[in-house]
Amino acid sequence: MEPRPSTYADVVGLRVCRNYLPDPIPRTEVEAILEAARWTGSSKNTQKWAFVVVDDPAGRQALAGAGSFTRPIRAAALAIAIVWPSDGYEFDIGRVAQNMMLAAAALGIGSCPVTLHDEDIARRVLGVPQGHQCRYAIALGYPDQEAEAAERRERRDSGKAGRKAIEEMTSWGKFGSPH
Ligand SMILES: Cc1cc2nc3c(=O)[nH]c(=O)nc-3n(C[C@H](O)[C@H](O)[C@H](O)COP(=O)(O)O)c2cc1C
Repeated sequence: MEPRPSTYADVVGLRVCRNYLPDPIPRTEVEAILEAARWTGSSKNTQKWAFVVVDDPAGRQALAGAGSFTRPIRAAALAIAIVWPSDGYEFDIGRVAQNMMLAAAALGIGSCPVTLHDEDIARRVLGVPQGHQCRYAIALGYPDQEAEAAERRERRDSGKAGRKAIEEMTSWGKFGSPH
């Protein structure tokens, strides 16, 4: 069967965006992204996640203090931090993050996952209770296309862009076996 062209192109074409215009994201659009997140499938449908939307500049700057590569959070219109209980599954968190990013892209909004390396800071800034983790946030904003294109060119020229070949990452039947 032929893949549905637009869905396939959106999945294959999703790239992070770290440069944003100063425009705010309307509440309806934020809710649409959260709705996409809500419908993510999870292990045994446990839905062990919670989202903290950080849209005030002071909150974003404070949250950015929890990581080493948090420029996107500082530059974004808002960040959505993903919180999950300690008995949750990181696999589910990855899925929910990707769904938010794909939904945002469909709305013309750029995004970047950001690691909160210092979880204690993230927990304190967000008021996350004990027994919960918060290791990732998604930075979101309308793309600054020019700045993004320049950064992307730089990454490509320094060999940091693109992906490995399928053959490098795929084996058939047993690990390491080519087809
Ligand atoms: C789990 C995870 C954590 C990431 N953390 C950061 C981060 O802290 N800061 C950042 O700028 N990008 C972060 N990224 C974005 C990656 O650098 C990006 O996905 C990768 O370079 C591929 O980018 P591309 O899809 O635009 O080619 C993270 C991505 C993932 C999946």
